[in-house]
Amino acid sequence: MGQICAASLKCLLMGLSVLLLSATSGIAEESTDIYQQVLKPILRDRCFACHGALKQEAGLRLDTAMSMRQGGDSGGAVEPGNAGASLIVLRTESQDAATRMPPEGEPLKPAEIAALRDWIAAGAIAPAGEQGEEDPREHWAFRTPVRPPLPTDIDAGWVKTPVDAFISAGHRRQQLRTQTAADRLTWLRRVTLDLTGLAPGTADQAAFLADQSDQAFERVVDRLLASPQYGERWGRHWMDIWRYSDWWGLGAEVRNSQKHIWHWRDWVVESVNGDKGYDQMLREMLAADELYPTDMDRLRATGFLARQYFKFNRTSWLDETVQHTFKAMLGMTFNCAKCHDHKYDPITQAEYYGLRAFFEPYQIRTESAGGDLDFERDGIPRAFDCNLTAETWIHIRGDDRNPDRSRPIIPTVPAFLPGVLPPIEPVQLPPEAIQPGLRSEVLVAMKA
Ligand code: HEC
Ligand code: HEC
Repeated sequence: MGQICAASLKCLLMGLSVLLLSATSGIAEESTDIYQQVLKPILRDRCFACHGALKQEAGLRLDTAMSMRQGGDSGGAVEPGNAGASLIVLRTESQDAATRMPPEGEPLKPAEIAALRDWIAAGAIAPAGEQGEEDPREHWAFRTPVRPPLPTDIDAGWVKTPVDAFISAGHRRQQLRTQTAADRLTWLRRVTLDLTGLAPGTADQAAFLADQSDQAFERVVDRLLASPQYGERWGRHWMDIWRYSDWWGLGAEVRNSQKHIWHWRDWVVESVNGDKGYDQMLREMLAADELYPTDMDRLRATGFLARQYFKFNRTSWLDETVQHTFKAMLGMTFNCAKCHDHKYDPITQAEYYGLRAFFEPYQIRTESAGGDLDFERDGIPRAFDCNLTAETWIHIRGDDRNPDRSRPIIPTVPAFLPGVLPPIEPVQLPPEAIQPGLRSEVLVAMKA
């Protein structure tokens, strides 16, 4: 190691290589280690997004030494032993912004390119059995769930339900022993807190202690599930997920969310208490205006869309609509894809705007609640299709002042989601859905 350090990174690498050299063998092993510990993280940060599992620009993958040798459209990207002739070096070193890689952001640092050159000069060797990046589309969260077989290595005496079997198998694996069952009053307190958010009253405690039948536990659960507090407790949970919030603004002027948004809150609580299916709740929140255009009870659900209202910027409004819909309903953040293809998740920028396109036509209005015509006092904030011909464009780098008008974006579901979107067709709405003044209770109130 008698050379002079040309660049600081190389000095670092030499420290590492001296350690390795003193351990065993020569250049090849040293070079493999530098590849794993220094070079690969650089390529992962700067190249994999376009030359990895998600995307292969120019047909090129750079996530294994083997795929670099295979190369892309122009042939091998790495020529072992000949750094100067390797495409990957030529393209990262290039002084011409039109050909330099990566095409965006800072060029690679001289020390990084030097490490790349050294590795290729030493034979471009990777550890045996090197694996490429995992394809994010194969992530478990994107696969259709399948019912797993019940584990059999369990404590059969402890297991009461199929779910318990998984817990019991986990206990076995971790060599844990189960606790004895909680005493009755502790159990009552836990189940009451869990289902209603409240502690059990003295009468509830006495009734439960007195009930020595086999159904005593079930009866408590049924009573709690049937109580209005159940919907209030779990409605609050869903209101957090669905981002319930009161309005804010200046004086009487609404800037965010809507006045009387509590109508949506009531719909949430009533829906949970009424055992409305989760799928049906989502349908009503996103599309009650199209599915149930004259049903004011269900139209309250579109408070979900009304809450996204933002006075000053339609793009902020629709960004929040897209982002919170998918956070809440798919458990996934789409935010990054607003400005560029997502680097790690299989979501393209075009798909982000394909989602925005679903919401593009919608607007918010307040409608009479039960005939009340004073909208400062009461009213139901709801979504409706306002501008059916509104167009969606990709905003270049997420800048709404810079729309890409070369290709209009139509409503599309991201490709990683299974299932096929049915054809999008116009729906026929009754006159009172378009002119709320025609609703019977409004006509009655106007005559009075
Ligand atoms: C933002 C996306 C993007 C990133 C990040 C990126 N590339 Fe590329 N790369 C491209 C595109 C697009 C092409 C095809 C057009 C071209 O050749 O300029 C390409 C082509 C190449 C080619 C030519 C392949 C061939 O066979 O023609 C090489 C080599 C290459 N990139 C290396 C790299 C390296 C090394 C990095 C990281 C330091 C990198 N790229 C990062 C988008 C990217
Ligand atoms: C408001 C727009 C915007 C959002 C939102 C955004 N980015 Fe970016 N991002 C950019 C721009 C613009 C660049 C290019 C920077 C440059 O050219 O210097 C960039 C560059 C990057 C790069 C470097 C790419 C490379 O190959 O050099 C990564 C990584 C990245 N973003 C990840 C993310 C992640 C992860 C998120 C979400 C958590 C995100 N970005 C959200 C605008 C955004």
